[in-house]
Amino acid sequence: MPAASLTRSVWDVTADDFPTDGTREEQARFLLRYAILAPSSHNSQPWTFEVGGNEIRIAADESRWLDAADPDRRELYISVGCAVENCCVAAEHFGFDPELEYHDPGSADNVVTVTLEKGEPANPSPPELVDALTTRATSHEVFEDRALGPETRERLRDVVHETDVTLHFVDDPEAKGTISELQAEADRLQMDDPEYRTELGHWIGNGALGSSWLAARIGQAVVTHLDIGDREAKKNSKLIQSAPVVAVLTTGVDDPTARVRTGQAFERIALLASTEGVAVHPISQTLERPEMRERLEHLLPDDAGRPQHLFRLGYTDGEAEHTPRWPLETFLAQA
Ligand SMILES: Cc1cc2nc3c(=O)[nH]c(=O)nc-3n(C[C@H](O)[C@H](O)[C@H](O)COP(=O)(O)O)c2cc1C
Repeated sequence: MPAASLTRSVWDVTADDFPTDGTREEQARFLLRYAILAPSSHNSQPWTFEVGGNEIRIAADESRWLDAADPDRRELYISVGCAVENCCVAAEHFGFDPELEYHDPGSADNVVTVTLEKGEPANPSPPELVDALTTRATSHEVFEDRALGPETRERLRDVVHETDVTLHFVDDPEAKGTISELQAEADRLQMDDPEYRTELGHWIGNGALGSSWLAARIGQAVVTHLDIGDREAKKNSKLIQSAPVVAVLTTGVDDPTARVRTGQAFERIALLASTEGVAVHPISQTLERPEMRERLEHLLPDDAGRPQHLFRLGYTDGEAEHTPRWPLETFLAQA
């Protein structure tokens, strides 16, 4: 684990500090200050960046991979995709038309190269997304009893322009009830697995999930040593039930590139949702168990493809707090 401390000061990045007269490399490094604000599973921040000329090479950091929760590396690559997207949204704001090259899906070392050329993107992100880069936060609250209107759904759908990624909205009470049962079963199975509990305890204990030092230590001890499967199952199935919509992103192909692109689509949805006052909460235990992922797939339309990411959408009064990040330098490799 890197020596630098987690901090919330990284959220203070402002567009006024963009080095307009700097070199392309300095500008690229500035964009990465937005990339590290991306969401990631357990806030593990599993990415590295290498800047050379006008290229940013983005890789998955396997030392931060959640091998107990995420044996097939689905969440690892989705998290990397979220960071890629933050970088691209920021790049567009500063006048670039970022070009993406996806590499050999089998290699975590070099997942995507982003090339920065000045220009107009063919498919630009809505300009308001840039403000959400520093305001977006995951919500963990019970949602209000308030529907997600058709226009809002349409706008969320519109930001998914990856041809191989599809967004599904589940709002039928029966289907939602089944998802909440899957969630409860998955929670019990995960919390019955000592390796899963130890891994989760590690990320709670090191403060990544935002607790104070003492709360982090207590949280780690509770998760690692107490039998809290039933408690988690009840809490999370209630969270699912409270959501007016459970969203699922699916892909036809089930490989790392599809997962990176799922992460990009998800992050654009999360950023847009933030600008619309819609709360977003990924909830992954069902997808982490292959047999439960299969059962979720059967709830979706026949040609939906493989479920990659599941998240609640809805409304809440509560302000979600920012979680901390390790400083950018932690993730920068020398070119
Ligand atoms: C692939 C992925 C899976 C996630 N799964 C969960 C989850 O199961 N439960 C949860 O509460 N949050 C989940 N999250 C949200 C992260 O915990 C959150 O992004 C991280 O703590 C950083 O906080 P922030 O999003 O507020 O910046 C997930 C995020 C990603 C990208």
